[in-house]
Amino acid sequence: MANVVKQVGEYKLGALIIEGKTKQVYDLPSEPEHCVLLSKDRITAGDGVKAHDLKGKSIVSNKTTCKVFEILNSVGIKTSFVRQATENAFVSKKCQMIPIEWVTRRLATGSFLKRHPGVKEGYRFSPVKHETFFKDDANHDPQWSEEQIISAGFELNGLLIGENEVDYMTRVSILVFEVLEKVWQTRNCALIDMKIEFGVDNDGDILVADVIDSDSWRLWPSGDKRLMVDKQVYRNLTTVTQSDLDTVKRNFEWIADQLDHLLPPNDHLVVIIMGSPSDKDHCQKIRKYCEDLGLNVEVRVSSAHKTTQGTLKIVSHYESLNVKVVFIAVAGRSNGLGPVISGNTDFPVINCPPTTKDDVDRDIWSSLNVPSGLGCSTVLYPETAALCAAQSIALSNYVIWARLRSRRLVNYKSLPKADAEFKNK
Ligand SMILES: Nc1ncnc2c1ncn2[C@@H]1O[C@H](COP(=O)(O)OP(=O)(O)O)[C@@H](O)[C@H]1O
Ligand SMILES: [Mg+2]
Repeated sequence: MANVVKQVGEYKLGALIIEGKTKQVYDLPSEPEHCVLLSKDRITAGDGVKAHDLKGKSIVSNKTTCKVFEILNSVGIKTSFVRQATENAFVSKKCQMIPIEWVTRRLATGSFLKRHPGVKEGYRFSPVKHETFFKDDANHDPQWSEEQIISAGFELNGLLIGENEVDYMTRVSILVFEVLEKVWQTRNCALIDMKIEFGVDNDGDILVADVIDSDSWRLWPSGDKRLMVDKQVYRNLTTVTQSDLDTVKRNFEWIADQLDHLLPPNDHLVVIIMGSPSDKDHCQKIRKYCEDLGLNVEVRVSSAHKTTQGTLKIVSHYESLNVKVVFIAVAGRSNGLGPVISGNTDFPVINCPPTTKDDVDRDIWSSLNVPSGLGCSTVLYPETAALCAAQSIALSNYVIWARLRSRRLVNYKSLPKADAEFKNK
Protein backbone atom coordinates (compact mmCIF):
# COMPACT_ATOMS: atom_id res chain seq x y z
CA MET A 1 0.00 0.00 0.00
CA ALA A 2 1.28 3.45 -0.83
CA ASN A 3 2.36 5.54 2.10
CA VAL A 4 -0.22 8.29 2.40
CA VAL A 5 1.29 11.35 4.05
CA LYS A 6 -1.35 13.18 5.99
CA GLN A 7 -1.05 16.92 5.78
CA VAL A 8 -2.74 19.80 7.61
CA GLY A 9 -2.13 23.20 6.05
CA GLU A 10 1.57 23.47 5.33
CA TYR A 11 2.44 20.75 7.87
CA LYS A 12 3.28 17.19 6.81
CA LEU A 13 2.26 14.94 9.67
CA GLY A 14 4.20 11.92 10.89
CA ALA A 15 2.91 8.98 12.90
CA LEU A 16 -0.26 9.19 14.97
CA ILE A 17 1.06 9.29 18.54
CA ILE A 18 -2.26 8.99 20.31
CA GLU A 19 -5.96 9.43 19.64
CA GLY A 20 -8.42 10.38 22.37
CA LYS A 21 -12.08 11.27 22.50
CA THR A 22 -11.76 14.75 20.99
CA LYS A 23 -8.44 14.94 19.17
CA GLN A 24 -5.56 13.20 17.47
CA VAL A 25 -1.91 13.88 18.22
CA TYR A 26 0.60 13.50 15.37
CA ASP A 27 4.38 13.57 15.16
CA LEU A 28 5.75 16.53 13.20
CA PRO A 29 8.87 15.27 11.37
CA SER A 30 9.96 18.80 10.41
CA GLU A 31 9.97 19.81 14.11
CA PRO A 32 10.93 16.73 16.15
CA GLU A 33 10.41 18.45 19.53
CA HIS A 34 6.86 19.36 18.53
CA CYS A 35 3.62 17.59 17.63
CA VAL A 36 0.31 18.60 16.02
CA LEU A 37 -2.97 18.42 17.92
CA LEU A 38 -5.78 17.94 15.43
CA SER A 39 -9.24 18.57 16.83
CA LYS A 40 -12.19 16.32 15.96
CA ASP A 41 -15.79 17.32 15.16
CA ARG A 42 -16.88 15.32 18.18
CA ILE A 43 -18.44 16.23 21.51
CA THR A 44 -18.48 13.81 24.43
CA ALA A 45 -19.56 13.79 28.08
CA GLY A 46 -19.82 11.37 30.99
CA ASP A 47 -16.41 9.78 30.31
CA GLY A 48 -17.39 9.25 26.68
CA VAL A 49 -20.71 7.51 27.40
CA LYS A 50 -22.54 10.36 25.67
CA ALA A 51 -20.99 11.30 22.31
CA HIS A 52 -22.12 13.10 19.17
CA ASP A 53 -20.66 14.34 15.93
CA LEU A 54 -20.82 18.11 15.84
CA LYS A 55 -19.79 19.64 12.55
CA GLY A 56 -17.54 22.68 12.96
CA LYS A 57 -16.79 21.95 16.65
CA SER A 58 -13.12 21.30 15.87
CA ILE A 59 -12.74 24.81 14.47
CA VAL A 60 -14.32 26.57 17.46
CA SER A 61 -12.41 24.41 19.96
CA ASN A 62 -9.10 25.00 18.23
CA LYS A 63 -9.74 28.74 17.99
CA THR A 64 -10.58 28.90 21.71
CA THR A 65 -7.53 26.90 22.77
CA CYS A 66 -5.16 28.93 20.60
CA LYS A 67 -6.48 32.23 21.94
CA VAL A 68 -6.36 31.08 25.58
CA PHE A 69 -2.84 29.67 25.31
CA GLU A 70 -1.63 32.83 23.54
CA ILE A 71 -2.87 34.85 26.51
CA LEU A 72 -1.21 32.49 29.01
CA ASN A 73 2.10 32.52 27.12
CA SER A 74 2.04 36.31 26.85
CA VAL A 75 1.80 36.78 30.61
CA GLY A 76 4.70 34.43 31.37
CA ILE A 77 2.93 31.12 32.10
CA LYS A 78 4.78 28.15 30.63
CA THR A 79 2.52 26.22 28.26
CA SER A 80 3.09 23.64 25.55
CA PHE A 81 1.40 25.85 22.91
CA VAL A 82 3.68 26.84 20.03
CA ARG A 83 1.44 28.26 17.28
CA GLN A 84 -1.83 27.77 15.46
CA ALA A 85 -1.33 25.50 12.43
CA THR A 86 -4.71 25.52 10.67
CA GLU A 87 -8.26 26.33 11.64
CA ASN A 88 -8.59 22.98 13.44
CA ALA A 89 -5.02 22.15 14.46
CA PHE A 90 -2.16 23.64 16.45
CA VAL A 91 1.51 22.91 17.02
CA SER A 92 2.42 21.96 20.57
CA LYS A 93 5.58 20.90 22.38
CA LYS A 94 5.63 17.12 22.44
CA CYS A 95 5.01 16.05 26.03
CA GLN A 96 4.62 13.00 28.15
CA MET A 97 1.34 13.73 29.83
CA ILE A 98 0.59 13.51 33.55
CA PRO A 99 -2.71 11.59 33.72
CA ILE A 100 -4.32 13.97 36.21
CA GLU A 101 -7.04 16.59 35.75
CA TRP A 102 -6.34 19.68 37.86
CA VAL A 103 -9.62 21.34 38.79
CA THR A 104 -10.01 24.83 40.27
CA ARG A 105 -13.34 26.22 41.47
CA ARG A 106 -14.59 29.67 42.46
CA LEU A 107 -18.21 28.64 43.08
CA ALA A 108 -19.53 25.30 44.28
CA THR A 109 -21.61 23.53 41.62
CA GLY A 110 -21.80 20.20 39.76
CA SER A 111 -19.93 17.19 41.16
CA PHE A 112 -18.64 19.19 44.13
CA LEU A 113 -22.18 19.41 45.51
CA LYS A 114 -22.66 15.63 45.21
CA ARG A 115 -19.38 14.95 47.00
CA HIS A 116 -20.08 17.53 49.74
CA PRO A 117 -23.75 17.21 50.69
CA GLY A 118 -25.08 20.22 52.53
CA VAL A 119 -23.01 22.78 50.62
CA LYS A 120 -25.37 25.07 48.69
CA GLU A 121 -24.80 25.72 45.01
CA GLY A 122 -22.99 29.02 44.56
CA TYR A 123 -20.92 28.74 47.77
CA ARG A 124 -17.99 31.03 47.08
CA PHE A 125 -14.47 29.64 47.60
CA SER A 126 -11.91 32.20 48.64
CA PRO A 127 -9.19 31.22 48.06
CA VAL A 128 -10.32 29.08 45.16
CA LYS A 129 -10.89 25.37 45.82
CA HIS A 130 -8.44 22.99 44.19
CA GLU A 131 -9.04 19.30 43.40
CA THR A 132 -7.29 16.56 41.43
CA PHE A 133 -8.77 13.61 39.54
CA PHE A 134 -6.98 10.62 38.04
CA LYS A 135 -7.76 10.33 34.31
CA ASP A 136 -9.38 6.91 34.16
CA ASP A 137 -12.58 6.79 32.08
CA ALA A 138 -13.37 3.18 33.06
CA ASN A 139 -13.49 4.21 36.74
CA HIS A 140 -15.09 7.63 36.11
CA ASP A 141 -11.98 9.69 36.87
CA PRO A 142 -11.70 9.11 40.64
CA GLN A 143 -10.70 12.00 42.86
CA TRP A 144 -7.08 11.66 44.02
CA SER A 145 -5.33 13.32 46.93
CA GLU A 146 -1.92 14.96 46.65
CA GLU A 147 -0.49 11.95 48.50
CA GLN A 148 -1.96 9.56 45.94
CA ILE A 149 -0.39 11.50 43.07
CA ILE A 150 3.01 11.53 44.79
CA SER A 151 2.72 7.83 45.67
CA ALA A 152 1.92 6.92 42.05
CA GLY A 153 5.55 7.86 41.31
CA PHE A 154 4.89 9.12 37.76
CA GLU A 155 8.15 9.50 35.89
CA LEU A 156 7.89 11.46 32.65
CA ASN A 157 10.78 12.43 30.40
CA GLY A 158 13.13 11.74 33.31
CA LEU A 159 11.20 13.87 35.81
CA LEU A 160 9.84 12.17 38.91
CA ILE A 161 6.59 13.79 40.01
CA GLY A 162 7.17 14.34 43.72
CA GLU A 163 6.00 16.76 46.38
CA ASN A 164 7.54 19.92 44.86
CA GLU A 165 6.20 19.11 41.40
CA VAL A 166 2.65 18.50 42.67
CA ASP A 167 2.80 21.70 44.71
CA TYR A 168 4.00 23.60 41.63
CA MET A 169 1.23 22.24 39.40
CA THR A 170 -1.37 23.04 42.04
CA ARG A 171 -0.15 26.62 42.13
CA VAL A 172 -0.01 26.91 38.35
CA SER A 173 -3.59 25.60 38.11
CA ILE A 174 -4.73 28.30 40.52
CA LEU A 175 -2.71 30.92 38.64
CA VAL A 176 -4.26 29.88 35.30
CA PHE A 177 -7.73 30.04 36.83
CA GLU A 178 -7.19 33.48 38.35
CA VAL A 179 -5.77 34.88 35.12
CA LEU A 180 -8.63 33.53 33.00
CA GLU A 181 -11.13 34.68 35.61
CA LYS A 182 -9.78 38.23 35.16
CA VAL A 183 -9.85 37.84 31.37
CA TRP A 184 -13.50 36.74 31.43
CA GLN A 185 -14.46 39.53 33.83
CA THR A 186 -13.62 41.96 31.03
CA ARG A 187 -16.40 40.30 28.98
CA ASN A 188 -18.76 40.31 31.98
CA CYS A 189 -18.60 36.52 32.31
CA ALA A 190 -18.00 34.64 35.56
CA LEU A 191 -15.54 31.76 35.35
CA ILE A 192 -17.06 29.23 37.75
CA ASP A 193 -14.60 26.34 37.54
CA MET A 194 -12.16 24.79 35.10
CA LYS A 195 -9.75 21.90 34.55
CA ILE A 196 -6.32 21.76 33.00
CA GLU A 197 -3.71 19.08 32.31
CA PHE A 198 0.08 19.16 32.49
CA GLY A 199 2.79 17.52 30.43
CA VAL A 200 6.55 17.20 30.74
CA ASP A 201 8.54 18.18 27.64
CA ASN A 202 11.84 16.70 26.45
CA ASP A 203 13.80 19.11 28.68
CA GLY A 204 11.96 17.86 31.76
CA ASP A 205 9.98 21.10 32.12
CA ILE A 206 6.42 20.98 33.42
CA LEU A 207 4.07 22.78 31.02
CA VAL A 208 0.36 23.53 30.98
CA ALA A 209 -0.57 21.24 28.08
CA ASP A 210 -3.46 19.53 26.27
CA VAL A 211 -6.16 22.11 25.45
CA ILE A 212 -8.23 24.75 27.22
CA ASP A 213 -11.52 25.22 25.41
CA SER A 214 -15.24 25.19 26.11
CA ASP A 215 -14.92 21.58 27.33
CA SER A 216 -12.64 22.81 30.08
CA TRP A 217 -14.71 25.31 32.05
CA ARG A 218 -18.06 26.53 33.31
CA LEU A 219 -18.80 30.09 32.23
CA TRP A 220 -21.84 32.04 33.33
CA PRO A 221 -22.48 35.32 31.48
CA SER A 222 -23.28 38.07 34.01
CA GLY A 223 -22.65 35.44 36.74
CA ASP A 224 -26.10 33.97 35.98
CA LYS A 225 -26.25 30.18 35.85
CA ARG A 226 -29.34 30.26 33.62
CA LEU A 227 -27.24 31.91 30.89
CA MET A 228 -24.51 29.22 30.91
CA VAL A 229 -22.70 28.81 27.59
CA ASP A 230 -20.29 25.93 28.28
CA LYS A 231 -20.40 22.17 27.81
CA GLN A 232 -22.73 21.79 30.81
CA VAL A 233 -25.57 22.65 28.41
CA TYR A 234 -24.71 19.44 26.51
CA ARG A 235 -24.15 17.38 29.69
CA ASN A 236 -27.62 18.39 30.92
CA LEU A 237 -29.44 17.14 27.80
CA THR A 238 -31.35 13.89 28.30
CA THR A 239 -32.29 13.48 24.64
CA VAL A 240 -30.14 15.21 22.05
CA THR A 241 -31.77 16.67 18.95
CA GLN A 242 -30.03 18.41 16.06
CA SER A 243 -31.44 21.68 17.29
CA ASP A 244 -29.88 21.05 20.75
CA LEU A 245 -26.53 20.40 19.10
CA ASP A 246 -26.90 23.63 17.09
CA THR A 247 -27.46 25.52 20.35
CA VAL A 248 -24.36 23.96 21.93
CA LYS A 249 -22.30 24.93 18.90
CA ARG A 250 -23.71 28.46 18.85
CA ASN A 251 -22.69 28.82 22.52
CA PHE A 252 -19.17 27.60 21.79
CA GLU A 253 -18.94 30.02 18.87
CA TRP A 254 -20.11 32.86 21.10
CA ILE A 255 -17.30 32.07 23.56
CA ALA A 256 -14.63 31.94 20.84
CA ASP A 257 -15.97 35.20 19.49
CA GLN A 258 -15.78 36.89 22.90
CA LEU A 259 -12.10 35.96 23.09
CA ASP A 260 -11.62 37.63 19.70
CA HIS A 261 -12.93 40.85 21.18
CA LEU A 262 -10.53 40.89 24.09
CA LEU A 263 -8.67 44.02 23.24
CA PRO A 264 -5.49 44.00 25.25
CA PRO A 265 -5.79 47.29 27.12
CA ASN A 266 -2.86 49.42 26.06
CA ASP A 267 -3.80 52.77 27.49
CA HIS A 268 -1.11 53.33 30.08
CA LEU A 269 2.25 55.05 30.32
CA VAL A 270 4.96 55.15 32.95
CA VAL A 271 6.84 58.46 32.73
CA ILE A 272 10.21 58.45 34.43
CA ILE A 273 11.40 62.02 34.97
CA MET A 274 14.95 62.68 36.14
CA GLY A 275 16.11 65.97 37.59
CA SER A 276 19.49 65.72 35.91
CA PRO A 277 21.03 63.56 33.19
CA SER A 278 23.50 62.33 35.81
CA ASP A 279 20.62 60.19 37.17
CA LYS A 280 20.33 58.27 33.90
CA ASP A 281 21.80 54.94 35.11
CA HIS A 282 19.26 54.77 37.92
CA CYS A 283 16.49 55.61 35.42
CA GLN A 284 17.72 52.95 33.00
CA LYS A 285 17.34 50.33 35.74
CA ILE A 286 13.79 51.48 36.45
CA ARG A 287 13.01 51.43 32.72
CA LYS A 288 14.33 47.89 32.36
CA TYR A 289 12.23 46.57 35.27
CA CYS A 290 9.16 48.35 33.87
CA GLU A 291 9.67 46.95 30.37
CA ASP A 292 10.15 43.43 31.74
CA LEU A 293 6.68 43.78 33.27
CA GLY A 294 5.27 44.83 29.90
CA LEU A 295 4.82 48.50 30.76
CA ASN A 296 5.05 51.33 28.23
CA VAL A 297 7.75 53.74 29.34
CA GLU A 298 8.96 57.24 28.43
CA VAL A 299 11.97 58.88 30.04
CA ARG A 300 12.30 62.68 30.39
CA VAL A 301 14.74 65.14 31.95
CA SER A 302 13.48 68.20 33.83
CA SER A 303 14.44 69.96 37.03
CA ALA A 304 11.64 71.29 39.24
CA HIS A 305 14.15 73.66 40.80
CA LYS A 306 15.83 74.99 37.67
CA THR A 307 13.26 74.55 34.87
CA THR A 308 10.01 74.71 36.85
CA GLN A 309 7.85 75.83 33.92
CA GLY A 310 9.28 73.03 31.78
CA THR A 311 8.40 70.44 34.43
CA LEU A 312 4.82 71.69 34.60
CA LYS A 313 4.57 71.69 30.81
CA ILE A 314 5.67 68.07 30.72
CA VAL A 315 3.01 67.19 33.31
CA SER A 316 0.34 69.02 31.27
CA HIS A 317 1.39 67.17 28.15
CA TYR A 318 0.85 63.75 29.77
CA GLU A 319 -2.40 64.90 31.37
CA SER A 320 -3.69 65.83 27.93
CA LEU A 321 -3.18 62.30 26.57
CA ASN A 322 -6.06 59.92 26.95
CA VAL A 323 -3.97 57.36 28.87
CA LYS A 324 -3.40 56.32 32.48
CA VAL A 325 -0.10 57.78 33.61
CA VAL A 326 2.14 56.95 36.55
CA PHE A 327 5.05 59.35 37.15
CA ILE A 328 8.30 58.14 38.68
CA ALA A 329 10.43 61.06 39.90
CA VAL A 330 14.17 60.57 40.12
CA ALA A 331 16.08 63.42 41.75
CA GLY A 332 19.13 63.31 44.01
CA ARG A 333 19.95 65.61 46.93
CA SER A 334 16.82 67.70 47.63
CA ASN A 335 13.98 66.04 45.69
CA GLY A 336 11.77 68.92 44.64
CA LEU A 337 10.72 67.10 41.49
CA GLY A 338 8.36 64.42 42.83
CA PRO A 339 6.52 66.67 45.30
CA VAL A 340 6.13 69.47 42.71
CA ILE A 341 4.70 67.04 40.15
CA SER A 342 2.46 65.54 42.82
CA GLY A 343 1.13 68.97 43.76
CA ASN A 344 0.18 69.61 40.13
CA THR A 345 -1.42 66.36 38.97
CA ASP A 346 -3.84 63.70 40.18
CA PHE A 347 -1.94 60.83 38.60
CA PRO A 348 0.14 58.70 40.99
CA VAL A 349 3.69 59.95 41.64
CA ILE A 350 6.37 57.62 42.97
CA ASN A 351 9.62 59.14 44.23
CA CYS A 352 12.62 56.91 43.63
CA PRO A 353 15.63 59.07 44.53
CA PRO A 354 19.04 57.73 43.48
CA THR A 355 20.44 57.66 46.97
CA THR A 356 23.62 55.91 48.13
CA LYS A 357 24.21 54.44 51.55
CA ASP A 358 26.26 57.54 52.44
CA ASP A 359 23.62 60.15 51.62
CA VAL A 360 20.31 58.30 52.11
CA ASP A 361 19.83 59.46 55.73
CA ARG A 362 20.23 63.07 54.73
CA ASP A 363 18.50 63.16 51.31
CA ILE A 364 15.51 60.86 51.75
CA TRP A 365 13.62 63.33 53.96
CA SER A 366 12.96 65.71 51.06
CA SER A 367 10.93 62.87 49.46
CA LEU A 368 9.25 61.74 52.67
CA ASN A 369 8.44 64.93 54.56
CA VAL A 370 6.17 66.50 51.94
CA PRO A 371 3.67 69.32 52.49
CA SER A 372 0.07 68.41 53.39
CA GLY A 373 -2.19 67.77 50.42
CA LEU A 374 0.35 65.72 48.45
CA GLY A 375 -0.09 61.99 47.84
CA CYS A 376 3.28 60.96 46.42
CA SER A 377 4.93 57.82 47.75
CA THR A 378 8.63 57.07 48.10
CA VAL A 379 10.63 53.92 47.42
CA LEU A 380 14.38 53.30 47.34
CA TYR A 381 14.96 50.60 44.74
CA PRO A 382 14.40 50.71 40.97
CA GLU A 383 12.61 47.35 41.04
CA THR A 384 10.24 48.56 43.76
CA ALA A 385 9.41 51.68 41.76
CA ALA A 386 8.58 49.56 38.69
CA LEU A 387 6.44 47.16 40.72
CA CYS A 388 4.56 50.02 42.39
CA ALA A 389 3.83 51.57 38.99
CA ALA A 390 2.75 48.18 37.61
CA GLN A 391 0.40 47.57 40.54
CA SER A 392 -1.36 50.91 39.91
CA ILE A 393 -1.77 50.11 36.23
CA ALA A 394 -2.80 46.51 36.95
CA LEU A 395 -5.96 47.77 38.66
CA SER A 396 -7.44 48.42 35.23
CA ASN A 397 -5.27 46.21 33.01
CA TYR A 398 -5.63 42.43 33.20
CA VAL A 399 -2.48 41.79 31.16
CA ILE A 400 -0.23 43.67 33.59
CA TRP A 401 -2.11 42.15 36.52
CA ALA A 402 -1.50 38.66 35.11
CA ARG A 403 2.20 39.38 34.60
CA LEU A 404 2.52 40.42 38.24
CA ARG A 405 0.54 37.39 39.33
CA SER A 406 2.62 34.91 37.34
CA ARG A 407 5.84 36.57 38.53
CA ARG A 408 4.89 35.70 42.11
CA LEU A 409 4.90 32.04 41.17
CA VAL A 410 8.33 32.29 39.53
CA ASN A 411 9.63 33.76 42.82
CA TYR A 412 7.92 30.99 44.75
CA LYS A 413 9.53 28.29 42.62
CA SER A 414 13.06 29.69 42.90
CA LEU A 415 13.49 29.08 46.65
CA PRO A 416 12.68 25.33 46.78
CA LYS A 417 15.07 24.95 43.81
CA ALA A 418 17.87 26.73 45.68
CA ASP A 419 17.02 24.72 48.79
CA ALA A 420 17.32 21.43 46.88
CA GLU A 421 20.72 22.48 45.49
CA PHE A 422 22.10 23.22 48.97
CA LYS A 423 20.56 20.08 50.48
CA ASN A 424 22.18 17.87 47.86
CA LYS A 425 25.68 19.41 48.24
N1 LIG B 1 1.38 18.31 23.88
C1 LIG B 1 1.01 17.03 23.92
N2 LIG B 1 1.90 16.05 23.67
C2 LIG B 1 1.53 14.76 23.72
N3 LIG B 1 0.28 14.34 23.99
C3 LIG B 1 -0.65 15.25 24.26
C4 LIG B 1 -0.35 16.66 24.22
N4 LIG B 1 -1.49 17.33 24.53
C5 LIG B 1 -2.45 16.41 24.72
N5 LIG B 1 -1.98 15.17 24.57
C6 LIG B 1 -2.73 13.90 24.72
O1 LIG B 1 -3.56 13.72 23.59
C7 LIG B 1 -4.53 12.74 23.88
C8 LIG B 1 -5.79 13.02 23.13
O2 LIG B 1 -6.57 14.02 23.72
P1 LIG B 1 -8.13 13.78 24.02
O3 LIG B 1 -8.82 13.48 22.76
O4 LIG B 1 -8.58 14.95 24.82
O5 LIG B 1 -8.03 12.47 24.93
P2 LIG B 1 -8.86 12.03 26.22
O6 LIG B 1 -10.12 11.51 25.68
O7 LIG B 1 -7.97 10.97 26.81
O8 LIG B 1 -8.99 13.22 27.11
C9 LIG B 1 -4.64 12.71 25.40
O9 LIG B 1 -4.12 11.50 25.86
C10 LIG B 1 -3.75 13.86 25.84
O10 LIG B 1 -3.15 13.58 27.09
MG1 LIG C 1 -9.25 15.28 26.79
